[in-house]
Amino acid sequence: MGLRPQDVIRRKRDGGSLSREEIAFFVDGVTRGSMADYQSSALLMAIYLNGMSASEMAMLTDAMLHSGEVLNFSDISKPKVDKHSTGGVGDKTSLILAPLVAACGASVPMISGRGLGHTGGTLDKLESIPGYRVHLSLAEFRVILDRIGFAMMGQTAEIAPADKKLYALRDATATVEAIPLIVASIMSKKLAAGLDALVLDVKTGSGAFMSNEDDARNLAQALVSTGNSCGVRTEALLTDMSQPLGRGVGHAIEVRECIEILRNEVNQGVRPVMELSLELAARMIAISCIESSLEAAREKIQLALTSGAALECFRRNVEAQGGDPAVCDEPARLLPLTPHEVKVESTRTGFITGINAAEIGRAIASIGGGRTRIEDAIDPGVGYAAESRIGGEVKAGEALGLLYCRELGQAQTASERIRAAYIIGDEPTSAPRLIKEVITA
Ligand code: URA
Repeated sequence: MGLRPQDVIRRKRDGGSLSREEIAFFVDGVTRGSMADYQSSALLMAIYLNGMSASEMAMLTDAMLHSGEVLNFSDISKPKVDKHSTGGVGDKTSLILAPLVAACGASVPMISGRGLGHTGGTLDKLESIPGYRVHLSLAEFRVILDRIGFAMMGQTAEIAPADKKLYALRDATATVEAIPLIVASIMSKKLAAGLDALVLDVKTGSGAFMSNEDDARNLAQALVSTGNSCGVRTEALLTDMSQPLGRGVGHAIEVRECIEILRNEVNQGVRPVMELSLELAARMIAISCIESSLEAAREKIQLALTSGAALECFRRNVEAQGGDPAVCDEPARLLPLTPHEVKVESTRTGFITGINAAEIGRAIASIGGGRTRIEDAIDPGVGYAAESRIGGEVKAGEALGLLYCRELGQAQTASERIRAAYIIGDEPTSAPRLIKEVITA
């Protein structure tokens, strides 16, 4: 007799391990619609409660990855490498590291997402560049990738369709926060891009999806082990998201910051974004075996930045994806911010000891810089420029940051929310370490 859903559910309910055949039966049933939602949901809850071993996680990822189209760029001879971040506030490294890595000889097929909730999305940020198109056909994506070294587009319906269905069920059954389910969801979509190697940026802190550091470390370890088991060289950095990354939070403001970095116009506020982007990029080059040591990879990436090669690569990508390449020369003109710039003042003198980064993200989302439903439109010009960071000193009346809003009527509530997101104490505190740990296979 063939497999029955209730037998698979029972095995996981009782704490057993599922076989490859049972996992494939489940994922296939979800993809074809032959598995009833109540049975899928019961199995999701059993996985949530009893977990999965490393080999079950790899088998689940593999089955979900093969539930749809797996891209094949084997005709492009360069190593294919990507980065995935678990998301945060002001997290804009993709726009910097993709051209850096492409300028150093790797191929970066980047399939990105949209922002939802308090976090921003790479696709939305790119769309603040006039004319930039993220809806590419696969044929266009391949041509741009081959010619320029990196291409950016959104998820297609053909990639990992099982994830789409499972994610909706997880959302409705309070089973989103299970590490095996998160790992299979993230990795099935990333690995569908036909990668040789992957570097993960797993965030922890107040603006991260997993704010607790131990949870984030467990997630990073599970992601790394699963990627390697699926035949893709994978490593992860555990990085700080206890405050916005860099200065800008928003769309046009974040793209401006990326272009300033690529133009070598770096001020103190943007230094953390630059540092993290350079390190992730160097690790992408090292893990792709383009350089034999991390030190050599760091030097190569640094040279791609200072020589302007990465900026040129970015310019060529913008042009190829329909955007105005002059954005590289005049970012302030082509990426306008809203006309109202409002100072968010500190009400007291002291040291910044903590920041609720997610609340800053939500404040910007609430004035048009984010969406609550996937179909909502984004206002690219609204945003926030953080002027102070954890460990810094502020005086009463000094700016914590600058808020950009479309209507002055929005300013008071949003700036109150941002002000309340800062914890200001009497004792100095040290700045959090940006890169907390490296997790390798
Ligand atoms: N991102 C995903 O794509 N899936 C998850 O389950 C969580 C974060």
